[in-house]
Amino acid sequence: MEKLYIKGGREPLEGRVRISGAKNAVLPVLAATLLTDELMTIGNVPHLNDVTTTIELLRQMGISVVIDERMNLEVNSSTISSFFAPYEVVKTMRASVLVLGPMLARYGYARVSLPGGCAIGSRPVDIHLESLRKMGAKVDVEDGYIIASAPYMRGADIELPGRTVTGTENLLMAATLARGVTTIRNAAREPEVVDLARCLRKMGADISGEGGDVITVRGRERLHGCGFDVLPDRIETGTFLTAAAMTGGKVRLENTSAGLVDTILCKLTESGAHINTGNGSIEIDMRGERPRGVSIETAPYPAFPTDMQAQFTSLNAVADGSGVVTETVFENRFMHVQEMQRMGADIVVRGNSAYITGSRRLKGAPVMATDLRASASLILAGLVAEGETVVDRIYHIDRGYECIEEKLSQLGADIHRVSA
Ligand code: UD1
Repeated sequence: MEKLYIKGGREPLEGRVRISGAKNAVLPVLAATLLTDELMTIGNVPHLNDVTTTIELLRQMGISVVIDERMNLEVNSSTISSFFAPYEVVKTMRASVLVLGPMLARYGYARVSLPGGCAIGSRPVDIHLESLRKMGAKVDVEDGYIIASAPYMRGADIELPGRTVTGTENLLMAATLARGVTTIRNAAREPEVVDLARCLRKMGADISGEGGDVITVRGRERLHGCGFDVLPDRIETGTFLTAAAMTGGKVRLENTSAGLVDTILCKLTESGAHINTGNGSIEIDMRGERPRGVSIETAPYPAFPTDMQAQFTSLNAVADGSGVVTETVFENRFMHVQEMQRMGADIVVRGNSAYITGSRRLKGAPVMATDLRASASLILAGLVAEGETVVDRIYHIDRGYECIEEKLSQLGADIHRVSA
């Protein structure tokens, strides 16, 4: 089992770092390759465990995926021989459910494991299933598997009862090959949904309204292959900005976009950061100061992202003053709090809010990562804590951050990975 060892409380982070392609954008784009039997070439792909898992899933289905040394992927779905996503894969990565919509639309059949529970809440897929039924699919759940079939998908007017990112993406992909027009109301507006629509349009899909509440899709008979580069990772961007802020540092992020992280930049400015944005770059300068406490409330895009909640809990734990962090997207997303308390953080959770009083110093401690973003928040806390922090169960972090310890070391952090 690997662990990360961090010696904290040292110098402010300083330097430049290159942001990787977005995990949450590349996963739906990989699923979209199922919609065509022509070659798809995908660039700016981050080297992450979730990407490797998806490639493994596609390969198990008989699809050819060729990876070059720069992580450009060539995917050819024409050799598909199985329409099955097993529990062993889906349980490690909920986003595997994204193959459901495209498989059903292109091949008329899919058997995909139900994702089951996860650390941050029950996370059902009922909205995915109900929407596909509205498009004419027969969808049953048997022995933990979703079994879906349809001779063809039918355009429909669908109002989603809750905002769901992967639910919107599943439906969007299914609609591209449906007969007739599909209207998706109350659609998720996340940049990764927009990026998927951009990819699908390059494949020949007729889509309008992405980024707004209503997406309209006119189904096509077929889609074709294309080359596509995924957008930068806004959560990785936010995580490095927060790390810089917590250490009083000065860091320039490259290959990213300020437009993706508006709400995060606003909150960092409120906490005392000086931000400069350029074409594809963001510079943060804390001028050696401690951040001030800030309150945030998570909600679907364009509000503050739930995937940055844990990192801001960490920021508040070392801030000057206090802050309230309210989580409205997931029901159980404060698992990192107990671990931070072990490092001396002053945090009280009541309902879906965490009340945090900043401490000048946290103390390094052995801590356990419970989910992807929680692990990032513990690393950030470790960077400013006195002494050594050892983060266990870091397989969570490898799901969604490319070479995090290398990138942080590049900025002057004392962090390294040890295999036990
Ligand atoms: C995606 C992101 C994840 C992010 C989340 C919220 C990917 C691969 N993952 O996850 O990083 O934290 O959006 O921004 O893009 N819900 C239902 N029924 C459904 C679907 C969702 O009740 O059928 C609920 C969920 O339990 C949750 C809320 O809706 O409370 C939002 O979830 P959703 O947007 O679907 O999250 P994911 O797409 O799984």
